[in-house]
Amino acid sequence: KKIVYYEETDSTNIRAKKLAEEGAPDGTLVVTDFQNAGRGRRGRMWVSPSGTGIFMSLILRPDILPSSASMLTLVAALAVYDGIKETTGLETVIKWPNDIVAEGKKLCGILTEMSAELEGIHYVVTGIGINANMTGFPEEVGESATSLRILTGGPVRRSRLIAVVMKAYEGYYVKFKSCGSLAGLMDVYNEHMANLGREVKVLDPAGAYTGKALGIDEKGELIVEKADGKVVRVVSGEVSVRG
Ligand code: BTN
Repeated sequence: KKIVYYEETDSTNIRAKKLAEEGAPDGTLVVTDFQNAGRGRRGRMWVSPSGTGIFMSLILRPDILPSSASMLTLVAALAVYDGIKETTGLETVIKWPNDIVAEGKKLCGILTEMSAELEGIHYVVTGIGINANMTGFPEEVGESATSLRILTGGPVRRSRLIAVVMKAYEGYYVKFKSCGSLAGLMDVYNEHMANLGREVKVLDPAGAYTGKALGIDEKGELIVEKADGKVVRVVSGEVSVRG
């Protein structure tokens, strides 16, 4: 599959969307060493210092409904979990929907964007940022982030980690497409889920509440049991979950 590499760029998600508009095929991977305008979810910036992190975006053209596209973010989280485990031996957890965390600090963030019509998807871009070899973080990121290097004590070969993550992604993606949902992946996802069985706080704009996280369903929605015993499903993107 094709890989497009930039020494420096604004954001691999922006690059990938442009390439997708120009017709780049399914499976094209955009990689850079340095993003000068890296972006995270909720419009936040993503710290992207030169040569230390993994900043990449995958262009996908799946034949699925637009409403299913957010599931691809969870597929990516599984692939990053595997990649980190295989290359460093480090055991991480997935914080629903798509943060990879170790020792309570964030190692990886994923940002999925798409272009779609009611009938179908033109393309999906899944951007993955992995804190690989950073030795520290700026104050505004503070205590919330960590890197593979900080946790393992040594540098990580980024090219190998990228290759292993993409290989894992391919396997999960095939499974995802054959089910048309996360049905075949939700058990392994739940095994790695940080807040499984724990109390979480759901910050719903209609009113925050707490409950016990029971895992994801085949759509990737978080199943939460409220204190009164009522079971609700939380859609990623609509609310945020603490816990
Ligand atoms: C998050 O807020 O957790 C998502 C962070 C996503 C960062 C990655 S780095 C590669 C790609 N390009 C971007 O500008 N963002 C994503």
